[in-house]
Amino acid sequence: MNILIVGGAGYIGSHMVKMLSQVGHHVCVLDNLTTGFREQVKYGELVVGDLQDLSLMETLFKAGAFDAVMHFAANSLVGESVSNPAKYYRNNVANTLNLLDVMVRHNVKNFIFSSTAATFGEPEYVPIDEKHPQKPINPYGASKLIIERILQDYAQAYGLNSISLRYFNACGADPDGELGECHDPETHLIPLILQAASGRRKSITVFGRDYPTEDGTCVRDYIHIYDLCCAHAQALNALVEGGEQGASCFNLGNGAGYSVQQVLDVAEKVVAQDSCRVVVEEGERRAGDPAVLVADASLAMEELKWTPLYPDLETIIEHAWEWEKKLAGFKKAV
Ligand code: UFG
Repeated sequence: MNILIVGGAGYIGSHMVKMLSQVGHHVCVLDNLTTGFREQVKYGELVVGDLQDLSLMETLFKAGAFDAVMHFAANSLVGESVSNPAKYYRNNVANTLNLLDVMVRHNVKNFIFSSTAATFGEPEYVPIDEKHPQKPINPYGASKLIIERILQDYAQAYGLNSISLRYFNACGADPDGELGECHDPETHLIPLILQAASGRRKSITVFGRDYPTEDGTCVRDYIHIYDLCCAHAQALNALVEGGEQGASCFNLGNGAGYSVQQVLDVAEKVVAQDSCRVVVEEGERRAGDPAVLVADASLAMEELKWTPLYPDLETIIEHAWEWEKKLAGFKKAV
């Protein structure tokens, strides 16, 4: 197939580009490189451009004859979305609408959308299934939920078929060691711990130990980037070959929660093999962090025939550590 990957130079997009290219699809990446990196596009063709550029989009779609579009290009920092909601509604909503409209004009019917656990807001129960009420508590989550809603209407009115995938905590790195996570600024737990271990930062701060969880730290559902990408590939099959119609949504996680302390314990074990250690500091709670976020992903497993290959946290962290060592120019201690 001919697939357009918007945001293919970012963390998740770049892994997706690799996976689809390796199974023989032709991939075109559209990325404005504001948060993505040219070097992360190792496969397919890269068009540097923005969803605001309507004439570029028109040209791209005229030339592309795309069978499907995957959309990873979004701003995704919860804190920033609270202080600068305009940026989030402009990019995550208005720019996505530009993309959907050009798809409709060019009769491209298959769309995979990166949504988020942040559309649920404060959990009313865990694990969170697709029936859980969606009441986002920040503009980031709200911006993604608006697109989920728009996709329902576009399915009905224009026959645009879509699958929205609600990620819990995407992490890990390409098992081949070719790609991995590169955010600037980095805000995510696992890469921050590993940067502290490699010496690229001094320490990691635990944001609160007074949550109502077993050890007092927040619990999250960490899903390997490879498994996340497999779910997208299965979703694409369901749309294109399985004839999945309308606008569907699936939660993506492993269904297992790990606390910040458990993540630290596993990471310390992994990096100790290279004689590294992590300096841990104690901090206040970070605003907007729910105590527990764990997915019920059984719907994706049943309907998309998706099975995670790397559900084990230690493997996830080992892959992320290999990548971090590469970034840090790490020489194994002898
Ligand atoms: N944490 C720390 N110290 C840090 C960084 C994180 O203790 O330096 C903690 C957080 O408080 C949280 C956990 O580690 O409890 C995981 O934090 P991340 O920032 O790695 O991930 P989040 O769970 O906050 O965010 C993820 C996605 C967001 C999405 C959100 C949904 O990355 O895009 O889930 O709530 F919005």
